[in-house]
Formats: sequence, C-alpha cells, structure tokens
Amino acid sequence: MHRNVAQACKKTEEFMDTYRQCEALAEEGLIRHIGISNMTIPKMDAVLPMMKIKPAAAEIEMHPAFQQRELKIYLEERNILPVRYMPIGSPRRPERDIMEEDVADLELPAVQEIAQRHGVHPAVIALKWAHQNGQLTIPFSTHHYYENLKCMTEDPLTQEEMAAIAALDCNNRLVKGHVFLWEGAKDWHALWDEDGVIVS
Ligand SMILES: NC(=O)c1ccc[n+]([C@@H]2O[C@H](COP(=O)([O-])OP(=O)(O)OC[C@H]3O[C@@H](n4cnc5c(N)ncnc54)[C@H](OP(=O)(O)O)[C@@H]3O)[C@@H](O)[C@H]2O)c1
Repeated sequence: MHRNVAQACKKTEEFMDTYRQCEALAEEGLIRHIGISNMTIPKMDAVLPMMKIKPAAAEIEMHPAFQQRELKIYLEERNILPVRYMPIGSPRRPERDIMEEDVADLELPAVQEIAQRHGVHPAVIALKWAHQNGQLTIPFSTHHYYENLKCMTEDPLTQEEMAAIAALDCNNRLVKGHVFLWEGAKDWHALWDEDGVIVS
C-alpha cells in the first residue's frame, strides 16, 4: 500500500477509535447526541460509512469572508446540523491564529456600510445575515448577549444587503490549524484537503 494511503487509513482509524467511544456512550444513554468539528468533505466521506450513529451536528468555521457553502450543503443533505463558529470573524482571536493575509470581516466596506445604514455594530450585521440564511451561530460574547439576541427579531437585512454579504466570500479561513500539523506535513493547507483528497 502507498505510504500516504496507509497514513490516511491510520488517521481515519484513530478518529474512529474516539468516535466509537462516543457511540458507546450514546448506546448506554449517557449522551444524547454526538457532535464533530472542523471536518472536510473528504474526511466526512471517509468516516461516515463507518459510523453506527451519525453525528447530530458539526461545528464549522463560517463568517462572511469564509462561507464554506459546499460543506454546509453536504452536511445538510445528510441531516447533520452545521453549527457556525466564529460567525463574527473572531476579531479578538489569539495571536497564534492571526496571519498577515487574514481579512477582517467587520472592516469590510460592504459590512460597514450596511451597519451604518441600520445603526448597529458590524458584528450585528454578520449575525443577522447568518440568521436570515437559516444558519445556527454560536457567537461568543461577554458584553453583547442582549443585542445579539434582539437583532434576530427586528430590522432584517434587505435582499440586496443579503446578496452583498454573500458576495464577500474570499475563502479566508481563520482557524488554519497550523498548531495541529504532523511531522512531515507541508503547511496548514494540508489539514483541509483542499484538492478533494485527504492529505497525509
Ligand atoms: N470548533 C472549533 O474548532 C472552534 C474554533 C474557534 C471557535 N470556536 C467557538 O466559536 C465560538 C465563537 O468564536 P470566537 O469567539 O472566536 O469568534 P466570534 O464569535 O466570531 O467573535 C467573538 C467576538 O465578537 C465580539 N462581539 C460579539 N457580539 C458583538 C457585538 N454585538 N458588537 C461588537 N462585538 C461583538 C465579542 O466581544 P465581547 O466579548 O466584548 O462581547 C468577541 O470579542 C466560541 O464559542 C468558540 O468556542 C470553535
């Protein structure tokens, strides 16, 4: 067997070792649902056929500059709820996750313009947009809980504003995962199977 294929199989098995323990907890009634995180379509294709209990939800990074539409549709078609993490573009993420090429979602002129028009912070616009798209978000907040909940119930974005934000996708992944690279891996792109196959 080719070395890369063998390594990919080994990683799949390692993932499934952990996942099977989650399945055992579900079977014992100790947990109700299993959730996964940071998957790609090739990785999902590799593990889904081995699962007895499908994950109920998958946390994936999604914000205006990184919309992951294909993965979202893939998950929805399989009845796995996509949970949108960093929906505001994580303006205060740790240094290790900041790179020069990163786009600041909240500073994008289209987001700022729409925010000005609605008289709210640009963060609120990112949340309204996701909510009006029917997406479940998990914004972190210490100071803005009330306004973040309230914004879902009033003053919706227009169709034109929704389209303007949809057009901002520039594949700007913020959680690159470089701290999780394995020995011999080229760079962080290797984690995300960008060519449609698992890189090992
Ligand atoms: N599964 C994974 O690998 C993964 C990776 C990363 C993150 N996550 C999860 O995703 C969640 C969110 O991630 P995150 O905190 O990095 O990013 P985020 O939710 O996109 O951004 C949070 C930041 O936005 C600010 N904010 C929230 N509402 C605001 C408002 N209305 N006006 C102005 N600023 C506002 C918050 O400030 P205040 O605190 O001042 O309100 C905070 O600094 C977390 O629960 C995290 O655990 C998961």
